[in-house]
Amino acid sequence: CGICGVVGTRPAAPVIFEALRRLEYRGYDSAGIATLVDGQIERRRAAGKLDNLERVLEAAPLAGTTGIGHTRWATHGVPNETNAHPHSAGQVTIVHNGIIENFEALRAELEAKGRVFLSDTDTETVAHLLDQYVSDGLPPREAAFATLRRLEGAYAIAMIFADHDDMLIGARHGAPLAVGFGDGEMFLGSDSLALAPLARRIAYLEDGDWCVLTRAGAQFYDERGEAVERPIQQVALIAGQVGKDGYRHYMEKELHEHPVAIGQTLQRMIDPATRRVVLPELPFDPESLPRVSITACGSAFFAGFVGRYWLEALARLPVDIDVASEMRYRNPPLTPGGVGLLISQSGETADTLGTLRSLRAAGQHIMSVLNVEHSTMGRESDVVLGMVAGPEISVASTKAFTAQLTVLAALSVAFARARGLIDAAGEQALVASLLDVPSRATEVFAQGDAIRAMAAIVAEARDVLYLGRGICYPIAQEGALKLKEITYIHAEAYAAGEMKHGPISLIDRSVPIVAICPSTILFDKTVSNLQEARARGGRILAFTDAIGAERLRGIAEVIVVMPDVDPFVAPILYAIPVQVLAYEVALLKGTDVDQPRNLAKSVTVE
Ligand code: G6P
Repeated sequence: CGICGVVGTRPAAPVIFEALRRLEYRGYDSAGIATLVDGQIERRRAAGKLDNLERVLEAAPLAGTTGIGHTRWATHGVPNETNAHPHSAGQVTIVHNGIIENFEALRAELEAKGRVFLSDTDTETVAHLLDQYVSDGLPPREAAFATLRRLEGAYAIAMIFADHDDMLIGARHGAPLAVGFGDGEMFLGSDSLALAPLARRIAYLEDGDWCVLTRAGAQFYDERGEAVERPIQQVALIAGQVGKDGYRHYMEKELHEHPVAIGQTLQRMIDPATRRVVLPELPFDPESLPRVSITACGSAFFAGFVGRYWLEALARLPVDIDVASEMRYRNPPLTPGGVGLLISQSGETADTLGTLRSLRAAGQHIMSVLNVEHSTMGRESDVVLGMVAGPEISVASTKAFTAQLTVLAALSVAFARARGLIDAAGEQALVASLLDVPSRATEVFAQGDAIRAMAAIVAEARDVLYLGRGICYPIAQEGALKLKEITYIHAEAYAAGEMKHGPISLIDRSVPIVAICPSTILFDKTVSNLQEARARGGRILAFTDAIGAERLRGIAEVIVVMPDVDPFVAPILYAIPVQVLAYEVALLKGTDVDQPRNLAKSVTVE
């Protein structure tokens, strides 16, 4: 969910609404705004996308210069208007991101006191608890502190109080919250993207912090209620970077930004004079590293999976990888001094952040690959390897994925060199292959017709099988995930060699098989697997290079002929058409490409 708040001098609702637009990536199944009008709280809410809230506000505008807003990704309670935030109780109104784990006990206690609940949300319980303390006579600051002390779980909250026009209270416990300093106005936001056009000076609440904002400034408190100082950072204005630039969807625009994202990331990591990979200062010696544990969610996990192949093969490092929600609770035996490698576009995904903390507790150095470098993960890492993908708005990850791969490839080269496994010439050769990728990536878009021919077949299917071997297996997984996410067609990825042990029983003419198979060392084996599928009536759709295309004629029904690249960088390049395929299928199906149902771009609950 996304949160924002303002205590200001101009009408608050339009400012909050625009901030919600920038936060929509965090959830978009309902939204709402509340402001203080003549000391009283007024509220507008709507189920569904922000456009619905816009219509409500047009019909019934909200006055007031102090207010809070929220865009929701449902956890407790269906996404209808009643469950939409803000939630009010008596003298208070709040918005909330996260989950209050002890809300049932609190609710029972409050119901026993005669309080009546209107929604199914954990948030309404917090509103009632806060109002209970206010009704008991506590001033807002004390009531907020008393409330926060009773909450369990992970949350960020913003609160406003009737008759307190010059006050906005925010709290952060496991979910991010930032304070923006304006000129005679102050802001709260889930991230700097929400705040950037409003305030150039931003302070981040630390975990457990809460703050009281007035037009004159901010007072920060820690978990124990002690007043604390938090550093104020200057941020660049980024408004204007987040438009569609004439493309139909953000996803289409962001797909076309693959070459730039890869190129900019390489610029950051490679010294053009020496053609060597440059890493930030490391708190460990790669030569004596016992192990790397990679963790991520969604597409970032598949990027990490490719990273494992690279780190093992090039840098000869033992690598463990798991999705964050599993790694966090698996309690694997870890040698202190290893590296916990987190990969995240947003740097805010709750599962990944939780795993970061458990890896740190297990004595691991924390290294993260992030697009938003000043995110919570960025601030909690020992080393941040920044991808330079620029803002990614579409919910389904595109350019951030190839930028993640680029970072991981360069990291593997640097570790291989540091561990004495390649010499300067070896490093330069691998770097040259990496530098080749951005221009090869632009060539992929010339294959639009072939990709659309594939899309026409895939769009008719109910189930699709994606196959790849070795380093292209995770790309098959990314392809299947992307198709599921934005077209709602069921897709499964399998290591091509494993198909004969199960999914082969699914194959007939109605299940297209998408093969990711550059003509590398495992090509012949993949072709055998495709023959097996073909022999059972399967329709093969293949992504391969010119040499591969020769072999696959007569086997594959549609072939997308990819530019020739060094096998080392093939996964970066092949990720692109696989994502374009999902996009083209989504166009045919007419789904909501940028905001597919039930998803959110950054999931800040466990
Ligand atoms: C969500 C998004 C995915 C994304 C994943 C991880 O599930 O829908 O596209 O890959 O979160 O997000 P992160 O910001 O941690 O990379």
